[in-house]
Amino acid sequence: MKVQNSHHALFDLAKAARANSYSPYSHFAVGSALKLDNGKIYAGTNIENSSFGATVCAERVAVWKALSENPGGKLEEVLVLTNRSPAVAPCGVCRQILSEFASPNLVIHLAGPSGVERSLPFTELFPEAFQFFKEK
Ligand code: THU
Repeated sequence: MKVQNSHHALFDLAKAARANSYSPYSHFAVGSALKLDNGKIYAGTNIENSSFGATVCAERVAVWKALSENPGGKLEEVLVLTNRSPAVAPCGVCRQILSEFASPNLVIHLAGPSGVERSLPFTELFPEAFQFFKEK
């Protein structure tokens, strides 16, 4: 099995990350794992804050880890894992963050406890991203 090409690897890494969730306020643990265009994989979990507003979602933690080590990297796959079924989709703020670093073919995997339930193109999840530098 080629680990880089399998969302099973992303699922396992997101599950391991989710076990580290710091979510004492919502008790909603989220794990995320992503693959960059250079094949590298990073995972993250949500880290809450008593101010609530400073909470960071799992997807963003994974993106910050990935981009801080791979400047210019583009996202090819992002998996989001919760214990909910039907599986939940990334929040609006995370969609905007993902759009900043999305490759044209970015695929989002929505996973519940038993595995990936849906995979969809990012352009379908977030068709009208704000793009500061977009030409008319
Ligand atoms: N959360 C994520 O980590 N990702 C999402 O896409 C939605 C929400 C976290 C933030 C907070 O810690 C908890 O889930 C409840 O909103």
